[in-house]
Amino acid sequence: MKITDLSTERRSELLSEMREKYEMFRSYGISLDMSRGNPPREQLSLNGDILNAVTDPDDCLSEDGTDCRNYGVPYGLREARELFSQLIQVPADNIIIGGTSSLNLLFDTVSRAVTHGLAGSPRPWGKEEKIKFICPVPGYDRHYKILEYFGIEMITVPFTGDGPDMDQVEKIAAEDPSVKGIICVPVYSNYTGDVYSPETVVRLARMETKAADFVVMYDDAYVVHDLYGVPAETPSFYDECVKAGHPERPVIFASTSKMSFAGGGICCVAFGDKNLELAKKAMAIQFITHDKINQLRHVRVLKDLETVRERMNRFGSMLLPKFEAVEETFERFLGSYDIAEWSKPKGGYFICFRLRYGGARRIVEMCTQAGVKLTPAGAGFPYGKDPSDSYIRIAPTFPAVDDLKKAAELLCICSIMVALENNAPLEV
Ligand SMILES: Cc1ncc(COP(=O)(O)O)c(C=O)c1O
Repeated sequence: MKITDLSTERRSELLSEMREKYEMFRSYGISLDMSRGNPPREQLSLNGDILNAVTDPDDCLSEDGTDCRNYGVPYGLREARELFSQLIQVPADNIIIGGTSSLNLLFDTVSRAVTHGLAGSPRPWGKEEKIKFICPVPGYDRHYKILEYFGIEMITVPFTGDGPDMDQVEKIAAEDPSVKGIICVPVYSNYTGDVYSPETVVRLARMETKAADFVVMYDDAYVVHDLYGVPAETPSFYDECVKAGHPERPVIFASTSKMSFAGGGICCVAFGDKNLELAKKAMAIQFITHDKINQLRHVRVLKDLETVRERMNRFGSMLLPKFEAVEETFERFLGSYDIAEWSKPKGGYFICFRLRYGGARRIVEMCTQAGVKLTPAGAGFPYGKDPSDSYIRIAPTFPAVDDLKKAAELLCICSIMVALENNAPLEV
């Protein structure tokens, strides 16, 4: 049974307690950054095997004899494409290996669509009066920044726990020809940790769209990043699109940024046959080759899906205590007040903290003043504007467990203070 709100007396007592604690935190002079999802040092230190996989300049041949020290094989070593093929469930022939950043490939894909169009485009997107994209929220800020940069209008759709609200997605895509796509992080979504259910994946593949060149930008950044050693099973989006008769719909990205070195790994993009040809046509002009020595280093160590999973299980077990420390601290300090809820993701890099009564901006600012830097409030929404001012993204992967406990406690203190100051009910 839900018991009533705190008494007025208890509320003012609690507020004084929290203010005192907050001032104490400020006096500690801590300095912590929980704003971005960086792999922890202890994980990066285990990557010596990758650094040391190619040490002899005369040992740089790929399996088919390609000399990785030289130009050539612009779309990536066969074994690198086969590795990603297992990770993202796309035929190796439809995969292109990029440089060190999948975000870069996403930017380029949108850029090409704007200047030249995609398979099925009546004209380049830049020649249309308006282009719109569906954005499940809260989501990845850098995705929104790319869309904003190209002047693409963003339509937000909420998450349901199984991915975006597909009733809304289907309706928007079916009605409006200027809606050219949706941007998705299907596994351990960046912010909420949602894993798209098989039904969501199939509906995304099958849905009718008014735009003939509608694409699903499917960012598989966290496809093997499980915290509990249990793989997130999703059907092959690529296969589902082919089966549904929409072979040009999927544009799938992945990278090893959180398997090897952040911004220093290898990455890929996958397309249907026609979009693949269009991409290659542009890329043939854009570069001569990517860094195949880095590809060689990675494939010699990461080898195949099974080897990757073993590695990621080791990394996951290093990250899990960090996630647990944050979740336990939230439960301990906020469990008895019904003012916030938080995700308990099974993988990925983030915990999503939601305030029932808003105040996110103020809380993030207070934490910053006390030495804990968080992702700016609103970052999970297009244009940095969270209409309910209620979401805060926690990135627990980099700091040490003890620091995380302190930072999470500070966040709880600020949340209680702001709830009290805003006269929100604190149920017990
Ligand atoms: C969803 C998502 N996509 C892409 C990236 C960046 O990937 P990359 O380092 O391959 O550019 C990140 C990094 O945090 C991410 O969260």
